[in-house]
Amino acid sequence: MDVTVRPMRDDDVDAAQQVQEVAFRELDQRLGEPVTPVSPESVERQRRRHRHFIAHDPAGSWVATSGDEIVGSALALRRDSMWGLSLLVVHPDHQSRGIGRQLLDASLSYADGVGTAIILSSSDARAMRRYARAGFALFPQMMATGAVDRTTLPAADRRVRVGSVADAELADSVDRQVRGAARGPDHGILNDFTTMYVAEDAADRGYAYIRNGHVVSVAATDEELATRLLWQCLADEGQGSVEQHTISHVTGEQQWAIDVAVAARLSLKPWGPVFWRGRTPPRCYLPDGAYL
Ligand SMILES: CC(C)(COP(=O)(O)OP(=O)(O)OC[C@H]1O[C@@H](n2cnc3c(N)ncnc32)[C@H](O)[C@@H]1OP(=O)(O)O)[C@@H](O)C(=O)NCCC(=O)NCCS
Repeated sequence: MDVTVRPMRDDDVDAAQQVQEVAFRELDQRLGEPVTPVSPESVERQRRRHRHFIAHDPAGSWVATSGDEIVGSALALRRDSMWGLSLLVVHPDHQSRGIGRQLLDASLSYADGVGTAIILSSSDARAMRRYARAGFALFPQMMATGAVDRTTLPAADRRVRVGSVADAELADSVDRQVRGAARGPDHGILNDFTTMYVAEDAADRGYAYIRNGHVVSVAATDEELATRLLWQCLADEGQGSVEQHTISHVTGEQQWAIDVAVAARLSLKPWGPVFWRGRTPPRCYLPDGAYL
């Protein structure tokens, strides 16, 4: 059946979220990875993610349809002069028929004229092939995971405090310096689902987001502050129920993050790569899978 790629609408969100869930479950199984658990909270978080993109990045939000069925989707954002791919999925029953390529091409039309672009890739060979062919450079990434050895945690740091959406301006100034683009509206939704930490030391600034042991993002103008923030994330126990911490999206540029991970006795393993166009990975930046 013919496939059409068109802008995503609000009434596509539930079906698009289901395709995302099925595609990543099949990918985890295919790669022999533990399947990411699904909960009512994670489903709602993904639906809100889709709606956030439709509201703020309509030109980066696409679906592929076959008849009445949604068979794939892509979400991309554009902040200042940076473009980022948040999601690219095709339902397993429809993969390897060129749909992913069409969706990526549509979302890349939203990158016209930007200076830099980032894609956090899965290990799916088709995804990596398309990103490389679209002119992106590949940087291998590691993930660190496990139970933090709490005896390794440094003493509480007075330069780090809990943040809130009121710190968005500070965080935006960090991001402009570190990655050349502010997050703008993404701080609102990130604060709804995570704990934010902010660090300030003389002229240096940084911030981090953490959710249930998962380090969502870290950005700082200075490596020592980035390190402090990452330690604070590992000290964070959520509602007291966190057994595992995860630091994703670490490249060779972020040795400071590798140092923290191994000091805390987390295990390192290879992970899908990050692709950049227009620059190399910023040193004091761990990007977020959803909002980059
Ligand atoms: C990755 C994904 C979106 C690709 O979509 P798709 O419709 O299956 O892929 P396409 O048919 O467009 O193929 C993409 C490229 O991979 C190539 N390809 C197809 N099968 C392949 C295989 N087994 N190995 C390597 N390359 C392959 C295609 O030839 C095509 O390259 P070309 O356009 O240069 O010829 C889709 O497979 C998917 O949802 N995977 C699981 C979720 C995921 O990993 N998403 C990416 C997140 S970053």
